[in-house]
Amino acid sequence: MKMFVVGIINAVAKVREIKTADFDRVAELTNRFFPYTRSDREKIAERLQRGSVYFIAEVRKKVVGFIDIRIYEKNAKIIGIAVDDDYREIGIGSALIKKAFKFIRRMGRSSIFLRVERSNRDAINFYKNNGFDVRSDIIDAASGRVIYILEKKFEN
Ligand SMILES: CC(C)(COP(=O)(O)OP(=O)(O)OC[C@H]1O[C@@H](n2cnc3c(N)ncnc32)[C@H](O)[C@@H]1OP(=O)(O)O)[C@@H](O)C(=O)NCCC(=O)NCCS
Repeated sequence: MKMFVVGIINAVAKVREIKTADFDRVAELTNRFFPYTRSDREKIAERLQRGSVYFIAEVRKKVVGFIDIRIYEKNAKIIGIAVDDDYREIGIGSALIKKAFKFIRRMGRSSIFLRVERSNRDAINFYKNNGFDVRSDIIDAASGRVIYILEKKFEN
């Protein structure tokens, strides 16, 4: 039964570019999973103006996840990705990341990187399963925690 329900949710999850009407909900998800950012609709608007690209996932008109990326001269970076707890492990995170990959390739960039805390095992597994490798580790000056730099290269 669970697989059946999961299958239905997955089938109706739609990934698209963010709209102004999504800002509050994306800020809410951002604050829940990345509390240090203290996001709100103005901050999301500001990030978009400064070059962030957001894609969101929606299920029955409800925003259940997002990805925030930046395009640089030679590569691209995932700033953040999060999926509402009730909608995890049904492929929505992967659908968001694949949408970002497609966009980045279309922009002519051949690699993407991100920073993730070494303690975030679930996220690291998720990234590895989506083609990322650990490139290096650094110590975050503010928290003293170990941060991994992960990268995925695209074959052009
Ligand atoms: C990391 C995160 C975005 C993943 O989102 P998600 O929607 O659960 O991702 P997916 O469903 O695509 O993949 C998660 C797992 O479910 C499994 N899965 C995917 N579809 C499935 C399905 N239909 N049935 C069963 N399992 C499935 C995948 O194999 C995957 O396993 P893995 O983690 O070993 O790769 C989510 O856990 C999250 O929001 N974490 C908190 C925020 C965070 O830490 N972000 C990253 C730091 S920047």
